[in-house]
Amino acid sequence: MRVLGIESSCDETAAAVVDDGERVLSNVVASQVATHEKYGGVVPELASREHLRRIEPVVEAACEQAGTELKGLDAIAVTEGPGLAGSLLVGLVYAKALAMALDRPLVGVNHLEGHIHSAWLENKLARRAGLTDIAPQFPNVTLVVSGGHTSLFRVVADEPAPAPVFSYYRLGQTRDDAAGEAFDKVAKLLALGYPGGPVIDRLAPYGDSRAVKLGPIRMRGNPLDFSFSGLKTAVLYRIREGALAAEAAARAEWRKACGKVSLDELRQHCSQATLDLLASFQHAVVTDLTGRTFAAANGLRVSSIFVAGGVACNSLLRARFAEAARNGGFEVFFPSLLLSTDNAAMIAAAGYFKLMAGERADWTLTSHASFPLGQPCASR
Ligand code: KG4
Ligand code: ZN
Repeated sequence: MRVLGIESSCDETAAAVVDDGERVLSNVVASQVATHEKYGGVVPELASREHLRRIEPVVEAACEQAGTELKGLDAIAVTEGPGLAGSLLVGLVYAKALAMALDRPLVGVNHLEGHIHSAWLENKLARRAGLTDIAPQFPNVTLVVSGGHTSLFRVVADEPAPAPVFSYYRLGQTRDDAAGEAFDKVAKLLALGYPGGPVIDRLAPYGDSRAVKLGPIRMRGNPLDFSFSGLKTAVLYRIREGALAAEAAARAEWRKACGKVSLDELRQHCSQATLDLLASFQHAVVTDLTGRTFAAANGLRVSSIFVAGGVACNSLLRARFAEAARNGGFEVFFPSLLLSTDNAAMIAAAGYFKLMAGERADWTLTSHASFPLGQPCASR
């Protein structure tokens, strides 16, 4: 079954063609970073307009790269939420129009379900290429960690023919900021550019992660919930207390005057105290994400862990998860960098399993800015 996936929940316009939920024929992502970076975050109204401009060429490029015409598609899968209402609507209306014109089935996919499937899709690609022979076991524990979400799920696959049917149980989630949002806000406070995660990832190795004591993050109630706003505030106080605020203001001016700056130049414009703060912040976030995810995996006695979403690109996070997995006897599965951040291949892959289970959307399908995935459940 050849599925066209369409994703437009935030600031990437994406389309992909995936066969049978496992062969990625194309995966096109048009990023809007250039539009939003001067505001230090996504501006919803601008995002919707950009999606409108790009949706058609992106879908055309996805079909062209896959070597298929529109009528060669068997079905269409589209993100229905959660996300920015206006952005979601662009992809959704386009997908509905295509499905109607081509007379093909349509299915709505939860964005988080897409992220969960990205780790499995990557594993299927790697096994097909002979890079690994390890397959994940279900049920597993999945951490979805991005700019909009930080959630832990127990993912169950029931395996009746012809394809598994997935159920999702929410073990915990952030009560305030998402981890990626915290990365972006800290980078903004320090005038390091947008998005903040990749910049902090690359600057943090130049700092000492023990220099500033941040964390551990304590949670009352569900120990698998997350909270990053206190950490962000602690960073803000550090900046205000020291000379870092003046340094950040000077860096903002310098960046404005230069336009594009390289990472080396940026590093040279950061004091050791700033680099130490970044390293300490990243260390605190990664320690928290690792601790709660492995606590969930231990509690539920699963052997496989998926990590997905933009923050799954983080080098320290990958290293720390790999180390904890080795020590604890788990297998951890990460998507590639391209499949970690928002993309439509993951939507097509997740959509395939829903279509195989007989799910079909009708023309009332609409977008949901808030759209929880699965049932809440305790870790034991
Ligand atoms: O999954 P994604 O593309 O969009 C959402 O669904 O939110 O994730 C984007 C987020 C941003 O907050 C970005 O700063 C973060 O992922 N991110 C990273 C890294 N690369 C992207 N955070 C930490 N380290 C990275 N290397
Ligand atoms: Zn996402």
